Amino acid sequence: MTSSAEHPLHTVLLPDGARLAVKIVGAGPPLLLLHGFPLDHSIWVGQLPLARWYRLILPDQRGFGASSCPAGSQGPASIEQLADDAAALLEGLGLEEPVAVCGLSLGGYVAQHLAVRHPRLVGSLILVDTKLEADTPEARAGRGELAAKVSRLGQEVVARAMIPNLLATAPAESAPQPPLQAQRRAECVLQLTRMIHACPVATITAALAALGARPDMSQAMRGVACPVLLVVGALDTITPPACLERAAGIFPHARLRIVPGCGHMTPLEAPEIFNAEVEDFLRGVAADQPAAGAPEGDRLADDRVVGVRTADQEARPAGLAGHSGPGATPEAGDC
Ligand code: MLT
Repeated sequence: MTSSAEHPLHTVLLPDGARLAVKIVGAGPPLLLLHGFPLDHSIWVGQLPLARWYRLILPDQRGFGASSCPAGSQGPASIEQLADDAAALLEGLGLEEPVAVCGLSLGGYVAQHLAVRHPRLVGSLILVDTKLEADTPEARAGRGELAAKVSRLGQEVVARAMIPNLLATAPAESAPQPPLQAQRRAECVLQLTRMIHACPVATITAALAALGARPDMSQAMRGVACPVLLVVGALDTITPPACLERAAGIFPHARLRIVPGCGHMTPLEAPEIFNAEVEDFLRGVAADQPAAGAPEGDRLADDRVVGVRTADQEARPAGLAGHSGPGATPEAGDC
């Protein structure tokens, strides 16, 4: 096992002065992993084994984790801004080919906007425990109330409000796989609590406003032609399977996986199953890639049937300094 010190956080300076901290692990085709709210890149700890096959790009989004906002700004202004940050990051890394982009919840919203605003950067899309729809007025109002409480009382309010809903709890009788075992669940709770407490209050309140203001993407997503994998925990109560089932009917090329026993944090709750789905999907995408010059076909035609229940050194945008080099194959625990 490699140590986290071997995979330092780099810093990429964005055009408006924001600084994105990003960890880069592994070798192979790039896979950008965008975390959820109000978390940071370390939520992907269970995906480090994928670095055996892929070059994992693990940013802390603007204001989260070790990333910062420019002076005078209090956090992310919009989901669109976070998508433009991700585009600037990819361009700053000098990636010339479209990459695989995977987003969890908030990260999934960002990934959708990235695919619409910067389609040439996105070769395939993995949307996890997320949805295409905007907030209902009630949900938006709830975010406003939460933001007001956080401003008064601090991050613990968010931890208490969110964590019980992030992880699967209800032992669904019909679930072929039980929800997290108690000890593993306790570890996940600790990890989530640590991340939420480390998130600045200003980032939380700004992000809540951005989440509440995000548009419905259902129509825009119809134009996304790249292959799409949709993954959701069967017990996700924040973005339930029905959301992803609807999304699967919208994308021209989508595969849906509903993971038994998981809640809203599928990559954390069932990393082996999640990683196997990602690997299988990305291998399929690579295999279906048309040879140079060949006509574009219906590349994922066989996967259109959905509903399957299965399982610090600073760099300018032009480049990244201090990259320690890919090639390691770290295991979970090193993020
Ligand atoms: C997340 O996990 O990123 C959030 O729950 C997203 C949301 O509240 O819509």
